Amino acid sequence: MTIMERIREKARRSLKRIVLPEGDEARTVRAAAICAAEGLAEPILLGEEDKIRAAAEKTGTDLTGLRMINPAQSPRLEAYADLLYELRRAKGLSREEAGRLAADPMYYGMLTVKTGDADGLVSGAVHTTGDMLRPALQIIKTKPGIHIVSSSFLMSCRNPDLGENGLLVYADCVVVPCPTAEELAEIAVSAAETARVLCGIEEPRVALLSFSTKGSARHELVDKVRRATEIAHGLAPELILDGEMQFDAALVPEVGALKAPGSPVAGRANVLIFPDLQSGNIGYKITQRIGGAECFAVLQGLASPCNDLSRGCSVEDIVNTVALTAVQAGA
Ligand code: ACO
Repeated sequence: MTIMERIREKARRSLKRIVLPEGDEARTVRAAAICAAEGLAEPILLGEEDKIRAAAEKTGTDLTGLRMINPAQSPRLEAYADLLYELRRAKGLSREEAGRLAADPMYYGMLTVKTGDADGLVSGAVHTTGDMLRPALQIIKTKPGIHIVSSSFLMSCRNPDLGENGLLVYADCVVVPCPTAEELAEIAVSAAETARVLCGIEEPRVALLSFSTKGSARHELVDKVRRATEIAHGLAPELILDGEMQFDAALVPEVGALKAPGSPVAGRANVLIFPDLQSGNIGYKITQRIGGAECFAVLQGLASPCNDLSRGCSVEDIVNTVALTAVQAGA
């Protein structure tokens, strides 16, 4: 069974309500119908009904049984606007502006999740990552005990000897451009949690990556990764975690044994923490494009799950992301 087959099966066990703010977008409408038909989630399409119906017609999609909400005409709009005003007034948001924003499907969707009227949100077929992330950070905010939202990529590699039967978790590849040592430590703890929840990895072995292994090079960037490793140990003493180490020392048993003898992680890591967004983002794309790995992305650290799509996504990508979001919501 592939990782996505397992995730879809898990999603089916607890039907979660997943709100789709881009409800009048053709691929999204099609994906919503598939999710409902396959019992992966209960999708909620946001948008004007006429536009949703037109998008459905374009793709030959049957909307029977699908929930649709037009934010601008919703009876919940005023309550949502009040909530948004309460959440953001200290940041200078006026009640009038809150009313206008709450009618925007992206904000309305976030407020649906915030109030518990939905369990999670998927967006990004139209909006950029930043357009989706900013309201998520402002409204949904972080989980208790977590201060930084980041991302994990589930990398399903062709070589079953890598990581956990070919599965690796990479973080952070989307959100935090230049993490501090404290933020890097939290990203490591969150990625281990993602590995448990989504990949069923019972023993995450987390490597904090660098261009140095255990002091082989001296640089302030190396010091940061070493400090992050210490902080992460303090945050999650039970977690099997080590750093700083190079990519090959983390993954290849012979190299790990040579460069980091006695490390509980070296040579057998299944969760890889990149030192910044440039290395993480480039790293996942190399693994995908040259290594031929399949990859699935999620955000982590939010109080309720919201996930981003690539604007070039396929219908299947949206279905998969809805399933991932549903599993996160059930965790
Ligand atoms: N975790 C938690 N809170 C955060 C985070 C974070 N990672 N980042 C910002 N915040 C908070 C801020 O403290 C602020 O809170 P406040 O308004 O209550 O004070 C709020 O979120 C908004 O922060 P801003 O600084 O105004 O937002 P910013 O303009 O920095 O945008 C964003 C944040 C969107 C996450 C930015 O860091 C970003 O653009 N990251 C890169 C996204 C990207 O383009 N990724 C690569 C492409 S995706 C791909 O390749 C698959």
